[in-house]
Amino acid sequence: MINFRYKQAESIKECDFSAFDGLLAQADKYFREKSGKGNDFLGWRDLGVRVDSEEYVRIKACAERIRKNSDVLLVVGIGGSYLGARAVIEYLKTPYHNQLNDGNPEVYFLGNSFSGCELNTVLKLCEGKRVSVNVISKSGTTTESAVAFRILREYMESRYGKKEAAERTVATTDANRGALLSLAKQEGYECFVIPDDVGGRFSVLTAVGLLPAAVAGVDTDALLNGACDMRDSIFASGLDNAAYKYAVLRNIMLKMGKTNELLVSYDPDFRFMGEWFKQLFGESEGKDKKGLFPASVTYSSDLHSLGQFVQDGSPILFETIVRAVNPDPESPKIPFDEQNGDGLNFLTGMSMDDINEKAMLGTLLAHRDGGTESVIIDFGGKDAYSLGELIYFFFASCAVSGYILEVNPFDQPGVEAYKKNMFALLGKPGYEAGKEELLKKIASI
Ligand code: PA5
Repeated sequence: MINFRYKQAESIKECDFSAFDGLLAQADKYFREKSGKGNDFLGWRDLGVRVDSEEYVRIKACAERIRKNSDVLLVVGIGGSYLGARAVIEYLKTPYHNQLNDGNPEVYFLGNSFSGCELNTVLKLCEGKRVSVNVISKSGTTTESAVAFRILREYMESRYGKKEAAERTVATTDANRGALLSLAKQEGYECFVIPDDVGGRFSVLTAVGLLPAAVAGVDTDALLNGACDMRDSIFASGLDNAAYKYAVLRNIMLKMGKTNELLVSYDPDFRFMGEWFKQLFGESEGKDKKGLFPASVTYSSDLHSLGQFVQDGSPILFETIVRAVNPDPESPKIPFDEQNGDGLNFLTGMSMDDINEKAMLGTLLAHRDGGTESVIIDFGGKDAYSLGELIYFFFASCAVSGYILEVNPFDQPGVEAYKKNMFALLGKPGYEAGKEELLKKIASI
């Protein structure tokens, strides 16, 4: 169950919402009927209902095999081919999952930068451990992932020989095309599909996210069920649902001149969900010179860095607080101390979660007094079902918010620009034309 609370935002009135009635009705129609811009990329909308598909059964079997024959899974991918899996694993299994020795394989993410140092470090961590690789790329040509995978292929083949290396490698890619698919077929890797109608940033509920998550011990059935139930509740509730309210609210804020949205969590385990959120909304809405700039923070840590700006700096942002409502029964309680040298006896018996909640409420009020509005998204908390609900909530809000903004929420034309320059500078065949010009510009930097 997700509850969207915006009424504490003093400057937002119900009439501000009604001003968007027409655009919201249009956006809902596009979403429901798959009739808006980018409609051939709405396949994620019904993914949860594919829980019993042959592909999902294979994903679970493959995850089971990796869990039995491997101590480490190396996941190679970038952007939408990596952020969701990492976000789900870190939130549900904590960012320390690799050090817990809890019977689940370690999962490391590579191919999301050109850092050779990171790759070397992770390979050192693999020493003496049994390794499998899951390479993920829809296009099959993304340079960061392809470079890392070429190095890892050599590593796997020199460790295991060609045959076993291939058995320990799984490719998640397009069903019909791309360099990775060809390579996978040639080498005999098991393959999973990123459906044609699902873009990278909407792919966490496909093999892209499900396979690494299942290997890490996440209950992927519950994750999908949560998403599926959220989908059903959005479709059943017409225009009056939390996801749509949030979508409209974002557009109201933008109209009011709040050009930045700060996604706030008070749980450090949520940090990568913030990274996932930034890609989802940033790539979906940041185009045609429009869109909110999405950022994310973890409080209370970031209250000791960005807190000053949020309280008192340029009035360019609003906060969206994501709050897990289910209490953590294991949250440590503050013990009584006879000496009370630190003066903390007034907290005796309270849990750290209780303190966190008061920090949240106190901060919300202080920021509002400083002129920074906040809204709250309440969701269940640290279980796979609730996270599935939250993921689908953000998917639906993002699609509808983008349609209200009158952009195509499912393309990303701007991502290509850096690649063209990089390929020209690296001498990739076919990109020779712009190289001279680029070198001249570089000389004048
Ligand atoms: O959302 C997107 O489409 C992108 O972030 C891609 O996921 C990212 O660029 C990786 O692309 P690919 O999966 O083709 O390697």
